[in-house]
Amino acid sequence: MVVNEKSIYTPTPPNGPPGGSADALRSNSPAPDATLNVRDDFPIFSRQFDGQPLIYLDSGATSQKPAAVIDAISSYLSERNANVHRGVYALAQESDAAYDGARKKVADFIGGDPKTTIFTKNVTEAINLVAYAWGRANVGPADAVLTTQMEHHANIVPWQQLCKERGAQLRYLEVDERGELSFEQLDRELAKGDVKLVAFTHVSNVLGTIVPVKEMTTRIRAAGATSLVDGAQAVPHMPVDLSLLGADFYAWTGHKALGPTGIGVLHGRTEILDEMEPFLTGGDMIASVDFDGASWNELPYKFEAGTPPIAEAVGLGVAVDYLSALGMGRVREHEQALTGYLLDRLQEVPGLRFVGPPEAENRGGLVSFTIEGMHAHDIAELANRGGVCIRAGHHCAQPLMRCLGVSATARASVGVYNEPRDVDALIDALIAGRRIFEL
Ligand SMILES: Cc1ncc(COP(=O)(O)O)c(C=O)c1O
Repeated sequence: MVVNEKSIYTPTPPNGPPGGSADALRSNSPAPDATLNVRDDFPIFSRQFDGQPLIYLDSGATSQKPAAVIDAISSYLSERNANVHRGVYALAQESDAAYDGARKKVADFIGGDPKTTIFTKNVTEAINLVAYAWGRANVGPADAVLTTQMEHHANIVPWQQLCKERGAQLRYLEVDERGELSFEQLDRELAKGDVKLVAFTHVSNVLGTIVPVKEMTTRIRAAGATSLVDGAQAVPHMPVDLSLLGADFYAWTGHKALGPTGIGVLHGRTEILDEMEPFLTGGDMIASVDFDGASWNELPYKFEAGTPPIAEAVGLGVAVDYLSALGMGRVREHEQALTGYLLDRLQEVPGLRFVGPPEAENRGGLVSFTIEGMHAHDIAELANRGGVCIRAGHHCAQPLMRCLGVSATARASVGVYNEPRDVDALIDALIAGRRIFEL
């Protein structure tokens, strides 16, 4: 598999003779210090595979969980479990406090307001909530929704469905050679006057590109359109302050942020959420119900129908406590240094091309790449033989894969627990893998 010549990629500098040994090719980049040193907080790293330690470079798919999160979920279920918002007894009140306390922590973590911080199942459900509850009421046949070529399917398919149903147009901002968007194209699209919503990612899960959210939302708001930002790959890895970003909706997912699966978050502007009809209906989201109708609970409960993910919220609350204690600035510094080291060392692998911006400061903690002569799934399998977990596939971004001219890439992504030796192990495995392929 070869990256199409017209594709978005950073050319690999000359590496010396193909098939040379790792030592012969070794780059001069020094390994960064393992500044966070938190690996021991994560019980999963005591596991071994074929006598080798777990080397996990797939945090872009989901993060590992610290003992603090696992223990908090276990202790909530063993000591405080009761349904929320319906019991007067002491145990139920403890459960209420745990659930709504977690909401406050999560809101505080990214400069949000608990009243406009809605718990969902994941970021996919958060985006669908907006597509259904806001989109069906605000997007009509003469309107357009604008998204980008670099989106995860979660930020494409809900808009395709909305536009199909409402007879609206769906248009895409293009990704350039560096894997970035263009303000000029955004301005041109907005100037057409029909764009109701612009939905874009904060950090691309394939290219790694960090999108300048504030510059985008300022333009979008000035044009009278609404913005939705998919923060799934941003919130776990860098300081995010909603009060500085200007997004109308901002969505993310707990399991990538050291929290459990089954919980996502949607933040919205009060005036927009107030005007919206509910997404799902039933228990807990109502103020009152009669045989011929119902009225809605206040925010955020209007958007949380049925028994919510209580234990999951408690776990996410502790996850953001953990991240806050590390300091998101330090988390970003650590992951940026590791990403820079990863980018440098990947250049030792002959035939390897990575996609997205070449500088670690312009990207999140992930790098997607291809190796000439090897399929992405073979790359991941060979990494696995070296005890290294990386992802291979289309990364739920098939339209972007088409722009890249490939069907799949391999992707290595870092988290707070990674250390330079994890990158070294990946490079060793890739170089050994090329030999197996006789490349
Ligand atoms: C940028 C981005 N958006 C959305 C998602 C979907 O996340 P979830 O499956 O938790 O809804 C992902 C997960 O890979 C992602 O990376």
